[in-house]
Amino acid sequence: MLKIDIVSVQPGMFGGFLSESMVGRAVRKGTCEINIVDLRDFAHDKRRSVDDRPYGGGPGMLMTCPPWFEAVETLTGAPAGLPPEGTRVIMTSPAGRRFTQRDAEELSECGHIVFMCGHYEGFDARIDTIATDKFSIGDFVMTGGELAAAAMTDSVVRLLPGVLGGGPAATSDESFNREGLLEAPQYTHPAEFRGMKVPEVLLGGDHRRVDAWRKSQSRRITSETRPDMLA
Ligand SMILES: C[S@@+](CC[C@H](N)C(=O)[O-])C[C@H]1O[C@@H](n2cnc3c(N)ncnc32)[C@H](O)[C@@H]1O
Repeated sequence: MLKIDIVSVQPGMFGGFLSESMVGRAVRKGTCEINIVDLRDFAHDKRRSVDDRPYGGGPGMLMTCPPWFEAVETLTGAPAGLPPEGTRVIMTSPAGRRFTQRDAEELSECGHIVFMCGHYEGFDARIDTIATDKFSIGDFVMTGGELAAAAMTDSVVRLLPGVLGGGPAATSDESFNREGLLEAPQYTHPAEFRGMKVPEVLLGGDHRRVDAWRKSQSRRITSETRPDMLA
């Protein structure tokens, strides 16, 4: 069973995420275990502080090394920087490598993931040494890593067997699949709505024609909206 620990200074942010979502259902079914860990539990002063001013000056505060090293060592049960096999320690950062569906697939096959949610101006650079990966979820800056960790968790958990209805096709016949294309347009009832008709080919029941149409639409949409994916 996949175990996910999300370390944060704002553990309250995950309430709705865990109770309302597909992820919450997967936890309740016992498909995965998700623990929200308060980084401040690893602070040692009365104020439970986890940040300090940056050397060399500059705006804001940085997250300090000691609580992060202790948290990751405690959660992985191994010295910082040497996680056991099958464990990934993921730092969230706008300066990380862009997270992709391939990463989600890879993570869905490991046994334990620890997500590190940054805050303030980010992490002391030495904290990088305890992460196995540093991921960004896009070219924009958020105030904290919680939404990034939630987004990555969602994309990983939905790939676990039995989480989505519809069997393996539910996750293989969609955008960023093995063919590297975006999904073709989809339609449901009614066959005509306010003058907009469902393409004829989808109504006929000829699966070979439907497949060919979907492939050509996938290529068209990908070249229109994400030409970089075809390059
Ligand atoms: C205000 S940001 C720090 C930004 C940092 N000073 C920089 O310029 O790269 C605070 C935290 O939010 C999280 N974060 C913000 N944007 C993110 C993104 N696009 N992807 C992943 N995490 C992000 C990270 O954990 C980061 O440490």
